[in-house]
Amino acid sequence: MAKVNVVLGTFYGDEGKGKIIDYLSKDADFAVRCTGGNNAGHTIHVDGKKYAFHLIPSGILNPNTKAIIGNGVVVDPKVLIEEIENLKANGHEVNNLYISDKAHVIFPYHIQFDQLLEDLRDKDDKIGTTKRGIGPAYCDKFERSGIRFEDFISDRFEGLLKRNVGQRNKILELYGCEQFDSNQILEEYKQYAEILRKYVTDTVSMLHEALEQDKTIVCEGAQATLLDIDFGSYPFVTSSNPTIGGISTGSGIGSKYINEVYGVLKGYSSRVGSGPYLTEEDNEIGDQIRELGHEYGTTTKRPRRCGWLDLVALKYAVMVNGITGLAINHVDTIGKLDTIKLCVAYKHDGVEDMKFSTNPDYVEKCEPVYEEFEGNFGEISHIKNREDLPEKAKKYLSRIEELVGVPVKFIGTGAGRDELIVD
Ligand code: GDP
Ligand code: IMO
Ligand code: MG
Repeated sequence: MAKVNVVLGTFYGDEGKGKIIDYLSKDADFAVRCTGGNNAGHTIHVDGKKYAFHLIPSGILNPNTKAIIGNGVVVDPKVLIEEIENLKANGHEVNNLYISDKAHVIFPYHIQFDQLLEDLRDKDDKIGTTKRGIGPAYCDKFERSGIRFEDFISDRFEGLLKRNVGQRNKILELYGCEQFDSNQILEEYKQYAEILRKYVTDTVSMLHEALEQDKTIVCEGAQATLLDIDFGSYPFVTSSNPTIGGISTGSGIGSKYINEVYGVLKGYSSRVGSGPYLTEEDNEIGDQIRELGHEYGTTTKRPRRCGWLDLVALKYAVMVNGITGLAINHVDTIGKLDTIKLCVAYKHDGVEDMKFSTNPDYVEKCEPVYEEFEGNFGEISHIKNREDLPEKAKKYLSRIEELVGVPVKFIGTGAGRDELIVD
């Protein structure tokens, strides 16, 4: 029986998914990126080198793993080419990359509209997007004017691009903005299409052949549950489904094939961009966590908002994704604090429970309820077995398992590839 394992973010992204995918890819025939675009930034530290992937699946570093950019991804070709070049410069041949013919292409007008639509929002209503054109590219996909890779590398490209640029220019004129020159975009993007042509294929058939041959596949979610367009803190979310459903629609792999669903989190939490964040510590503690965890955006370099781990939100992520195992990164980082707080319930309307909702009226009423744990775990990055962790760290991890009802399978003890306990 084929084995499909899934890696998903449980909070607001940047939980260390890249590192877990890199580990799982060691034994995987395929690594598939299913949703999002270059709003994602997945960092992996290998042999003293730091890789930051925005579009290429983090499994690419294993040459025997075929890395697929699935149909659910929106691809900025310029960024993808830069990523390929960077890998080549670091000694990787990139012969194991495939792009779905159904993935959509991001164009300069998407990036322009991302900026424009943010500018038009009121100050306290801004999403804080990565301004990579992600939302507008998904808008085109669902409005049915998007350009897929199968169009991008065909003779249809010129006509479709000219139609789209013509339509966007009419809107830009209304806003009094500078217009795009379709010939200029065409010249530039035709070159990108030629470079990428050899990677484009029918990845759905490819994956189904692999399933028939009982291959091992790891599916890489980008972003995270609370950034999901349906289940996240709408409208402060991304424009795709980074939850379990997006894995199937973004790859063509039906749910019956899925084995493990790993939910990735950190020993604390972080968020980049606007929106509610109940356990945020917008103070010296948050600053301390940010510095200890180097919490600055991989994609936009923005300082991440930081706070305590929220088990009410985690339980929700477990519920909507059917998570079977947890991967907790940055246990080393949280263990550097003297005292650690863990949100174990919300207090609302005079009651304390684990009810979660993204409804703003409900969120406004909620206050986090904390339990305190002893920190100062000491140096743990060399530890390879959970039993060998200090008692204080074990107590913290066991409490998370107990309240969420899902076992911890991976424990991150440092940023390095090997700084991981696998249970
Ligand atoms: P992703 O978007 O979920 O893949 O996560 P990012 O790569 O954006 O952010 C996670 C950051 O934490 C990266 O800089 C990783 O190198 C780092 N990291 C991952 N796991 C650990 C860990 O267990 N300990 C420490 N100290 N750093 C980690
Ligand atoms: P990874 O895969 C953290 C956030 C943005 C913004 C919101 C919408 O590295 O975990 P978008 O550009 O998608 O329209 O922005 O979503 N966001 C992320 N935050 N990690 C990510 O990806 C993110 N991708 C999008 O900051 O708040
Ligand atoms: Mg990231």
